[in-house]
Amino acid sequence: MWTYLSEWLQLAVRWIHVVTAIAWIGSSFYFIALDLGLRKRRVLPEGVAGDAWQVHGGGFYHMQKYTVAPEEMPDELTWFKWESYSTWLSGFALLFLLYYLHPALYLISPEKVDLPAWGAVLIGIAGLALGWIVYDLLCKSRLRANDTALLAVLFVFVVASSFLFDQVFSGRGAMLHTGALIATIMSANVFFIIIPNQKIVVADLKAGKSPDPALGKAAKQRSLHNNYLTLPVVFLMLSNHYPLAFATEWNWVIAGLVLLIGAVVRHFFNTMHATGEKLWWCWPLAGIFFIIVITLSGAPGWRSGADAGATSQREFSADPQYALAHSPHLQDAEAIIAARCSMCHAKEPLWPGMIHAPKNVRLETADEIVHYAALIERQAVRSHAMPPGNVTGLEPSERAVLATWLADGQTPGLGKGL
Ligand code: HEC
Repeated sequence: MWTYLSEWLQLAVRWIHVVTAIAWIGSSFYFIALDLGLRKRRVLPEGVAGDAWQVHGGGFYHMQKYTVAPEEMPDELTWFKWESYSTWLSGFALLFLLYYLHPALYLISPEKVDLPAWGAVLIGIAGLALGWIVYDLLCKSRLRANDTALLAVLFVFVVASSFLFDQVFSGRGAMLHTGALIATIMSANVFFIIIPNQKIVVADLKAGKSPDPALGKAAKQRSLHNNYLTLPVVFLMLSNHYPLAFATEWNWVIAGLVLLIGAVVRHFFNTMHATGEKLWWCWPLAGIFFIIVITLSGAPGWRSGADAGATSQREFSADPQYALAHSPHLQDAEAIIAARCSMCHAKEPLWPGMIHAPKNVRLETADEIVHYAALIERQAVRSHAMPPGNVTGLEPSERAVLATWLADGQTPGLGKGL
């Protein structure tokens, strides 16, 4: 019963998480565009730094920004914070339901470090907390006077964290924790810096005191970091569905390149909102970074040597089913899959707590194996995403046998004459 409910709980929490994240990132994009688009067009009321006219949903809006604040505080002030908090809370709940309740499936890689379940969970949580502390100290150090230098140091810090996560976790667990670290930094920025600083400013103004400008400056800097982190965090959260992105030893370099792509694309939009100028060079640059990501995902690793590269040389043709079903190597592939995959990918899986085949992928008969050939290639040959953490000990030589069978799919007519 629990496994059944847990599946629905995961879907419900994921649903909430995606919705809250849309609300958060949506309002964040809106306010960045609004802020950068404000103009000092004509004589504006006292205290107004700029205004903008907008049209949406059948009405016209006249937005004005007061810096530092209006002469008199309005009675009703809308704060934007729950979008951020609920995204983090639902995200952590999802991390818990998937990775911390099933560390053997999603987090631990015995080939790297054979962690006990509690150890993996502890490293995950401690990594996120420690990551925030280090980030916060960096932002409060002397580096804070120089936005660009601080951003460069933070870039190195996030890539280094990603590398460290990859030393202890599966590729999937490492990429997700890199995303979770960035998300934690973003939400903690709102919770510990941006909102509290703004509250002090409001209280000071109400008391007739002039607020400390350092408060606003620090909040603005954290807001700038959040702006540049929105695109990479979404990629990292989605990456766990794509083994080519995470199941490679270069996943931490991919995380770094994705940070650069996010920064370049945000730069294009930020500049366009602020000045109207379109920096078209940003797009080909982002494209080049993405091509490097794609290339790295198939490159040989530094641990496994030429192994990954050799198998990724093989191309998989579009309609190989007949040849695969008649390949002389099918029996060998079947035996390997029965030994290494079917304990989970069966109508009645033997893996404790599993009530049906994951993603409904059953690999019990030759027909099923042929049917899922393309997915098997992606999950177990081109990438090493399956078996998760290699729990069933699939040997490199066995991956090579699977590759040989899959390569037969490209030989049209194979088997017809037999
Ligand atoms: C310990 C249990 C276990 C073993 C053993 C295992 N898998 Fe999986 N497999 C999973 C889980 C869990 C998922 C779902 C992953 C997710 O939620 O993204 C999965 C997903 C898959 C998918 C679907 C991926 C997708 O998202 O479309 C394929 C294909 C697959 N496995 C192939 C294999 C192959 C081939 C083997 C053997 C070499 C194997 N698995 C061994 C647990 C296992």
